[in-house]
Amino acid sequence: MTNTYDNPEFFAAYAKMTRSQEGLAGAGEWPDFQPLLPALTGKRVLDLGCGYGWHCRYAVEHGAASVLGIDNSQRMLDEAARRTNDSRIRYARGDLATFDRPAASFDVVISSLAFHYVQDLTGLFARIGTMLAPGGTLLFTIEHPLFTAEGHEQWVETKAGEPVWPVDRYFDEGLRTTTFLGQPVPKYHHTLQTIVSAVLGAGLTLEALVEPQGSAADRADRAPWTRAPMMLIVRGDKPAVGGPHA
Ligand SMILES: C[S@@+](CC[C@H](N)C(=O)[O-])C[C@H]1O[C@@H](n2cnc3c(N)ncnc32)[C@H](O)[C@@H]1O
Repeated sequence: MTNTYDNPEFFAAYAKMTRSQEGLAGAGEWPDFQPLLPALTGKRVLDLGCGYGWHCRYAVEHGAASVLGIDNSQRMLDEAARRTNDSRIRYARGDLATFDRPAASFDVVISSLAFHYVQDLTGLFARIGTMLAPGGTLLFTIEHPLFTAEGHEQWVETKAGEPVWPVDRYFDEGLRTTTFLGQPVPKYHHTLQTIVSAVLGAGLTLEALVEPQGSAADRADRAPWTRAPMMLIVRGDKPAVGGPHA
């Protein structure tokens, strides 16, 4: 499937978003994501759907031995390379639908807002489970199933004029084509059961499941994502050999 991030109009609009301008500090989920990261010192890190490479640079700034950032948009990879000056980080073009490396290649796998572009999550997580070394961690964000279910991703108004987030077709997993930044964007809706089962099925233990709801200021403003969840953060750990879960 062609990647919308390689469309010049979409890429230009994406560049104007707060997370593109300010990086992790401008990413609303970062305060919930950061505390869930394992210690990165000396670790081999993989970032799936790395975009501009914010998480890759954060990882080396916090001691990672090496970071591989994978994305299938050449424009995003070029932007990541332009912003990076560290020989411990390598970027490569790859599709999450097929990306693979030998067993135990990484200690930490990160992914931020890329897994909803993958149809077969169970297959992806099985590969991640193998690529992770024993004792390793998968930490990812994905668009929330209540956000992706209905498909058009727009608030609707009740008869009383109240905005509500529509949830429908929840159990009908699969392709949704939404409009984002003025372009049609294909993505995949997965139920919560599928996401969590894919983590467990990959042999990982569920360590955290968080639904970010923004800052206190966002909540005071009743910002949209404080009313209906937009994202899910999940951490799964691979048991250490001989460890408590082995
Ligand atoms: C919302 S951006 C997030 C970028 C970055 N992880 C961040 O948090 O700033 C999603 C990224 O996933 C990448 N992506 C989408 N589908 C992909 C696929 N099938 N394989 C690899 N990368 C993909 C896009 O090119 C884009 O860079």
